[in-house]
Amino acid sequence: MKLSVIGCGYLGAVHAAAMASIGHDVVGIDVDENKIASLSKGEAPFFEPGLPEILSEGIASGRLRFTTDMSQAKGAKVHFVGVGTPQVKDGYAADMTYVNAAIDGLLPHLSEGDIVAGKSTVPVGTAARLAERVTPTGATLVWNPEFLREGFAMKDTIDPDRLVAGVPAGEAGEAATETLRAVYHPAIEKGTPFLVTDYATAELVKVAANAFLATKISFINAMAEIAEVTGADVTQLADAIGHDARIGRRFLGAGVGFGGGCLPKDIRAFSARAEELGRGESVAFLREVDAINLRRRDRAAQLVIDAFEGNVFEKKITVLGAAFKPHSDDIRDSPALDVAVRLRGLGADVTVTDPEAIANARRVHPQLRYVQDRDEALTDADAVVVVTEWDEYRRQLAPEHASTLARGRLIIDGRNCLDPAAWRAAGWTYYGMGRP
Ligand code: UGA
Repeated sequence: MKLSVIGCGYLGAVHAAAMASIGHDVVGIDVDENKIASLSKGEAPFFEPGLPEILSEGIASGRLRFTTDMSQAKGAKVHFVGVGTPQVKDGYAADMTYVNAAIDGLLPHLSEGDIVAGKSTVPVGTAARLAERVTPTGATLVWNPEFLREGFAMKDTIDPDRLVAGVPAGEAGEAATETLRAVYHPAIEKGTPFLVTDYATAELVKVAANAFLATKISFINAMAEIAEVTGADVTQLADAIGHDARIGRRFLGAGVGFGGGCLPKDIRAFSARAEELGRGESVAFLREVDAINLRRRDRAAQLVIDAFEGNVFEKKITVLGAAFKPHSDDIRDSPALDVAVRLRGLGADVTVTDPEAIANARRVHPQLRYVQDRDEALTDADAVVVVTEWDEYRRQLAPEHASTLARGRLIIDGRNCLDPAAWRAAGWTYYGMGRP
């Protein structure tokens, strides 16, 4: 099927490449010339395992191309809209500028029977508003949220755990549903659940899923706070409650908390939208989820300060990790960098290393020192702080090896990803988050 994808950021670039890989004829469109130039060469403008290969294959097959010219959307049967909805500068709400501009740009190129499939994460009510503009062209608007995780984006797009389509009532909605089924038929044939809902439900599925995940993380981090004053071990606690199948162990990783371009801004936008709808109290707990999350960054920094008896001035501190999570070069709202910046602000001599995220981190925080090589970064450190659980730090850094590099024997595990016994046995003083 001929498809267009408007917006070639994380979501759009991955979606375009994935759709070409399952046999569709795809044009990706974005206003950013640099992004389009790099995608056209098969280069991903961000780190995502597997994406460069799938981009190159798609381009070589002739089924995938990229352009800045919106008129190239003409002729596609389905137009996916996957532009960003960042947090507004002066509040919590989602900035709808890019979604509105994408629809404005697309409208003149729509034909009778086309489908516009919104994928961006939007405040509930957006689809109904946009449908009023799309419907008069003879096209049908559907809302088709995306649940991909950075680092696993190709797998999550080609082989998702569920597909959701919010469609209008009546024949147009039924026809659009059939078309979307055809787009996603390889996944549907494999048994992926395909849920058809109204617009509001589809929009809410997305924000509810992210709100739940954020709540789960903050729940365990709240338990970490209690563990800290009682001497309990939050990791054992998570293991134990996680055995209850109704609870489940995943997303019960206590530590410096969640960051990234989605969870933090999505829970804030959800709160803002609920307030607008007169139901602020229904999701008031999300404010608490956010507050708990941000407190964990303070806690990690405080652990380091306390380890130096209140004064980190000119202490050489090596921060392992800059990305908001492993398998990503994304530093948006990264807890790792937040901790590094705080320590630097207190006069510590901070060195940051990360396998993929240094270039992005340097752009935003040029005041920090960056070293690409892990061992070089560890050399002469008075203390080591793990804030992104890359395998390079979690599995591949033996404490005995770290002892040959660092000057001090102080390790702060901001992700509870190390084996405390192994580090202590090697002579290190180990501090975890919510662990004795
Ligand atoms: C999240 C959702 O998981 C995706 O389903 C969703 O599609 C995406 O947002 C989106 O809205 O686009 P992502 O931002 O890639 O995906 O990252 P996650 O894997 O959810 O991790 C988010 C943050 O939570 C990371 O900083 C991670 O380190 C942290 N986290 C995760 C914890 O602190 N503890 C855990 O147990 C798990």
